[in-house]
Amino acid sequence: MLKIDLEKGLVAIQTGDAERTIPIGSPEAFELISRPGCAAAGTASMSQLQLDGAPHHPVAGRRDAHPYIEIRPHNRAAIEAHEVSDLISLVEGSSTAPEVVEQVRSMICPGERVMVILDSNHSRDHVRSELEAYGPLVSEGSYIVATDGIMGDLVNAPRSQPDWGWNNPRVAAEEFLGAHPEFEDAPPVFPFNEGALNHRVTYWPGAWLRRK
Ligand SMILES: C[S@@+](CC[C@H](N)C(=O)[O-])C[C@H]1O[C@@H](n2cnc3c(N)ncnc32)[C@H](O)[C@@H]1O
Repeated sequence: MLKIDLEKGLVAIQTGDAERTIPIGSPEAFELISRPGCAAAGTASMSQLQLDGAPHHPVAGRRDAHPYIEIRPHNRAAIEAHEVSDLISLVEGSSTAPEVVEQVRSMICPGERVMVILDSNHSRDHVRSELEAYGPLVSEGSYIVATDGIMGDLVNAPRSQPDWGWNNPRVAAEEFLGAHPEFEDAPPVFPFNEGALNHRVTYWPGAWLRRK
């Protein structure tokens, strides 16, 4: 269950007897996600449910737009039959096609808070194009997230490609930051940390670009 305290600027998330709070402006508390590249669509319903883990309580006021290069019929059927399907909009086409970007843009209502997660073709050029296309849609203080920058560290690992050292989302994000001073590399702080780790162990190094 989700409670929003506008005075304190906090969102309280209750799971069973446990409750934790997050800042209203944090990535978790966004109102709308656009997530290009969800061909298998696991993330479409998952991202609607992840905050409270309870299918009966999708995140208040949140809607997702999911550009897919191809929407397979069985995936479409599964999404459309899902209990949070009302909160998910499917857009078929390449995430960088102008008509796809425009369709996503047109779904944003005035005043809505927008976060974008890029998870499609992870080549440097494609991610850079996505950053250019979707960056302007991101709300101030919110994020565009270029996932899977770990590729740069996986050269020579099984099933990796020799060009991953430079051809990866992290390089695209670094290039984008260099050209866009309105964004900063700002990984979210740990909501809590009971261990000795002081940095993130993640598949998404350098992914979190916050609009100032
Ligand atoms: C890393 S997987 C992401 C899977 C996704 N998270 C899900 O749960 O289904 C990348 C997916 O992006 C899709 N894709 C590739 N190029 C794309 C493009 N130009 N535009 C949109 N989606 C694309 C592929 O079909 C592939 O399945």
